[in-house]
Amino acid sequence: MIQLFQVYKNFGSKNPALLDINLTVKKGEFVFITGPSGAGKTTLLKIIFCAERPTSGNVLVHGRNLNRIKERDLSLLRRRIGVVFQDFKLLPRRNVFENVALALEIIGFPLPMIRKKVHQTLRYLSLTNKEGYYPPQLSGGEQQRVAIARAIVNNPLILLADEPTGNLDPDLTMEIMALLKEIHIRGTTVLVATHSKELLKGTTRRIVTLNKGRIV
Ligand SMILES: Nc1ncnc2c1ncn2[C@@H]1O[C@H](COP(=O)(O)OP(=O)(O)O)[C@@H](O)[C@H]1O
Ligand SMILES: [Mg+2]
Repeated sequence: MIQLFQVYKNFGSKNPALLDINLTVKKGEFVFITGPSGAGKTTLLKIIFCAERPTSGNVLVHGRNLNRIKERDLSLLRRRIGVVFQDFKLLPRRNVFENVALALEIIGFPLPMIRKKVHQTLRYLSLTNKEGYYPPQLSGGEQQRVAIARAIVNNPLILLADEPTGNLDPDLTMEIMALLKEIHIRGTTVLVATHSKELLKGTTRRIVTLNKGRIV
């Protein structure tokens, strides 16, 4: 599903953000990307989402080489990738329904289909009664659930989560992790970046550790 070959990313400073990354993530895998702050986790996810280009090396996502993909195909591919960030990045002036619906509107789905998909997803994330709320009226855990709803509403092939529990207390962290596991069970390939050793305690999942831009 995802393959990186000899990927380097240099932002222009002395030390590259990523060095000689070779990584294969199979369809349906659940992988933790870990390592200390500054190790390159976010950069790696951004490269997979094509929000950053590698300085050199090749990246294949769902069979497409991101170095060669056309703009139009790239936007189609991105629609199949859900992303969740630590700081939610919800639109504060749009309510829960609108935040989740936005991506589907941009794609141009007809309104009845948008309503159906959004309602299904909100129900799945126990957010039905928050549909009309605005993000500032929600708790951190609820905001993160809305961000996850937005990421999965279009049934992505891949879900990329960057420190998804970074701002949450331990109970909500468990809740969000349980959700990510469920989404994985439904068939989505999931990559979770976290610097938290706590989160990885006892996990049986694959763990890829980065240090100073290298896989260790
Ligand atoms: N847009 C950028 N411009 C310059 N340097 C960056 C940029 N993004 C990340 N970096 C650098 O790349 C390295 C890896 O960063 P990052 O991928 O955010 O690490 P992590 O997510 O593991 O904390 C850091 O040294 C960081 O300062
Ligand atoms: Mg990061």
